[in-house]
Amino acid sequence: MIERVSMWVNGDRVERDVEPRRLLSDFLRHDLRLVGTHVGCEQGVCGACTVLVGGEPVRSCLTFAVQCQGQQITTVEGLAPDGELSPLQAAFSEHGALQCGFCTAGFLTTLTALLDSDEELTEERLVEEVSANICRCTGYHGILDAVRSVVGDRLVGSATEVEVRR
Ligand code: FES
Ligand code: FES
Repeated sequence: MIERVSMWVNGDRVERDVEPRRLLSDFLRHDLRLVGTHVGCEQGVCGACTVLVGGEPVRSCLTFAVQCQGQQITTVEGLAPDGELSPLQAAFSEHGALQCGFCTAGFLTTLTALLDSDEELTEERLVEEVSANICRCTGYHGILDAVRSVVGDRLVGSATEVEVRR
């Protein structure tokens, strides 16, 4: 059985015929050639495959393409549509928040959703969000430094507290 799916990906409307079992991660990578989304564990654990669906972070390895009918999808390619790095991407570069880069797209999409939210941002919240994804290279300090630098004055809690918890 084949179904026609239609959605918006990084601002562009796309329509494709897919099998209902087609994973969103495979749809993005193989059908649309958006290979910035990486696939690691394929079990919803590592977060490398995270994309935004309607602005919310979603594990694309656990999502069927047909579940995204009519949705707005943002992949890592959509974070820098004109080739100019987003503030978070620039901060990742500045703070050494990546080494091999396999996990990076997932962190960028996950943290972009947090930064775009109205949530009160505390140190605990940042650590919680970062800990949802797995990075086997950086030790997380560079990632936390990068997101802290973008959060800036929005971070609730003193600099001393933040420093102690590192
Ligand atoms: Fe999807 Fe690991 S590949 S969570
Ligand atoms: Fe290599 Fe995170 S930079 S896994």
